[in-house]
Amino acid sequence: MSAITVRRSRFDAERPLPRHYFRGQSPLMSHLLTALSITFPDGEQFFVHSVRNVRDRVTDPQLQKDISAFIGQEAMHSQAHARFNAGIQADDYRLQDFEPQMQAGMATLRTRSPRRQLAATVAYEHFTALIAAHLLSRPQLFDGFDDNLRQLWLWHALEELEHKAVAFNVYQAVFGSGPESLAQRRRSMRTVSVGFVMGVATMTGNLLWQDRKASLGSPRKLLLNVRDAAYLADMVVSTLPHYLAFYKAGFHPDEVDHGALIAKWRRVLDA
Ligand SMILES: [Fe+2]
Ligand SMILES: [Fe+2]
Repeated sequence: MSAITVRRSRFDAERPLPRHYFRGQSPLMSHLLTALSITFPDGEQFFVHSVRNVRDRVTDPQLQKDISAFIGQEAMHSQAHARFNAGIQADDYRLQDFEPQMQAGMATLRTRSPRRQLAATVAYEHFTALIAAHLLSRPQLFDGFDDNLRQLWLWHALEELEHKAVAFNVYQAVFGSGPESLAQRRRSMRTVSVGFVMGVATMTGNLLWQDRKASLGSPRKLLLNVRDAAYLADMVVSTLPHYLAFYKAGFHPDEVDHGALIAKWRRVLDA
């Protein structure tokens, strides 16, 4: 048995999905999370693809079990976020405009070598683990969060932490930890960092602009955006050392122990 559990989310895409679902109906963080959600359906399918590419070269039975659980979790995330994206999409809130670019980016990545594809996944997985750990260690951010969407984001964040080391372990098992493998991992992190940060920032700005009447049209919303900007600054400052740790030769995702955080949120989500 893998310690990684594949669960169904209690998130219900059939219920009305508020556009400003982050705590206190604040716009900026809601649009940012929605921008992340835009990347998940295609992005997480790519992660699965990049691990499957090399799965037959993994001999460790435990790692094979972890791969199965990783694939199960990412497949469910991809589907849940596709339902969320379709549900929140509207005539004046066009998430689908970003899809061709997302799909083209993923199609290009799939033409690269299996090592480069997996190194990209390892880098993206470091980002998802950083964001998940940040959110889960600040439960106050989930106060006043739309209940239904809280289920989606808590569920996804918990599972990202549970499987944070799987792609990395597969990469090391298949490609080793020698100088070439390390250089590729660092190169991919640099490329992914620029693409990911620029992509999410652009989409967040675009969504905010599409929704400008509701997001920017009242003093209350403007104040909430300022508060969200402070949350974002805190996220950048507090995750930066963990982000940079990825470039160390001896880095491993498990060097930060999230066991207690995972156990706490498992109790909440599996209750
Ligand atoms: Fe995921
Ligand atoms: Fe993941």
